[in-house]
Amino acid sequence: MLSKSVLYSLRKGPQPRQLHHVAKAPLPGEPTKPYTLTEIPGPRSEALLNEFSKIQQVGSIQYFADYQRSVGNYLADIDGNVFLDMFMQISTLPLGYNHRSILGALSCAGNQRIMANRPALGLFPGLEWPCKLQDTLLQPCVAPKGLTCVFTTTCGACSNEHAIQAAFIKYAERRRRGENFTKEEKKSALFNKPPGCPELSILSFEGGYHGRTFAALALSHYKYITKIDIPSLPWPIAPFPQYSYPLDECEKENKEEDARCLGKVEELIEQYEKSAPVAGIIVEAIQCEGGDRHASPEFFQCLQGIAKKKCIPLIMDELQTGGGATGRMWAHDYFELNTPPDIVTYSKKMQASGFYHSSEYMPTLPYRIFNTWMGDPSKILILEAVLQTIETEDLLTHVCHVSNYLLCKLNTLQQEFPQIINSVRGRGFIIAFDLACKEMKDKMFHQLRCRGIQVGDCGIKSIRLRPCLIFGEYHADIFLENLRCCLQEFSQS
Ligand SMILES: Cc1ncc(COP(=O)(O)O)c(C=O)c1O
Repeated sequence: MLSKSVLYSLRKGPQPRQLHHVAKAPLPGEPTKPYTLTEIPGPRSEALLNEFSKIQQVGSIQYFADYQRSVGNYLADIDGNVFLDMFMQISTLPLGYNHRSILGALSCAGNQRIMANRPALGLFPGLEWPCKLQDTLLQPCVAPKGLTCVFTTTCGACSNEHAIQAAFIKYAERRRRGENFTKEEKKSALFNKPPGCPELSILSFEGGYHGRTFAALALSHYKYITKIDIPSLPWPIAPFPQYSYPLDECEKENKEEDARCLGKVEELIEQYEKSAPVAGIIVEAIQCEGGDRHASPEFFQCLQGIAKKKCIPLIMDELQTGGGATGRMWAHDYFELNTPPDIVTYSKKMQASGFYHSSEYMPTLPYRIFNTWMGDPSKILILEAVLQTIETEDLLTHVCHVSNYLLCKLNTLQQEFPQIINSVRGRGFIIAFDLACKEMKDKMFHQLRCRGIQVGDCGIKSIRLRPCLIFGEYHADIFLENLRCCLQEFSQS
């Protein structure tokens, strides 16, 4: 924890906290419901896609958005369609579109000078930088409990990439017992050879996703298209629990599934001990891209026990689940772990990216974990506005309340249409349900979009919902009404 008195005395003058008051009702200007005027993508999007395809692969683009006209929970496109957005830019927008608190922060003159001069934070951070981190990422109600240090970086995957470097550095430091690097280590490191670059590994899970940088991709195992043709690292991959639903009816088999996966984790750690010892375990709090797969608090408690026994860090990837998405700041808050995870990575809804860690994982030498920008102060300004809004609007309570409502109604629909949807699951606004097969999931995705509802998909046959934190019961009802219409159409076809 930084000393507040030192930090504040260094500032030029008193800096009052800015409070941006936001109405509790849907934002001014939000439409009352979604509407579509054209096929999706519409003709203007099609024409632009055609042009754009000359310079980029555009196969993943759904349509071009109009961010000037998008507001609150609604995303407008360039053909005049307006979608109720329950995907929110791959789960990254905490307050929807053009939220006044964020616009206010970005238009403030002092903040403009911070944004205009993007610093190399590892070399020349501004006077206000330590305070800004303390007031945002490290606030007691924001930082994962027990983690007092934070590293900032530039994207989600880099957060994981740097976090595992911290794990390797720690592991090697322990092995070296405080001795300096040897001559041989220094020389061999430049040729990617041991002992400088030791044979070590990180254990990850089947179905997990940690990003596209080299090591993060090696730790990701959810879609072949993300990996094929790219050389990878032969690190251990354990099974992640695959639960049967509904959970309360399948308790016994799900417990057995936990035990099976944990047994395999221990087995793999033993197996790799001689060839490439496991220096850390990386796991998502909820496997999101892999299909919104949840594991029980007991699973995570035991996993932490294994990591502790082996003196290696448990790295919790909370890129998609953090920032209030589950109704708590971090999804692992639900796991009742005995001690905090050693490292927690963040990005997406937090706007800024990086990892929290205990002081143990602070490298003893400079430049060991480093890059040019090491983050972006403009994202911290946005985060500051977001956190203030979360607090003043009590948005975490709101998320818990609305998600209970939505999950309850989804469960009812699941009972009414068991042939079509199943496995409704969720924590806060990390919500998903399955369809019978991939083709039906694709059809549901398109039918909903034709009705002006933008959802995401994940895994093989799951629809995922990732509304922003200001999504209300009012919006949930619009979604549910449209989903019901789709289910009725499906059941008649
Ligand atoms: C759990 C998780 N980890 C890592 C990543 C990679 O983040 P980025 O795409 O921002 O690099 C993602 C992205 O979806 C994610 O969901």
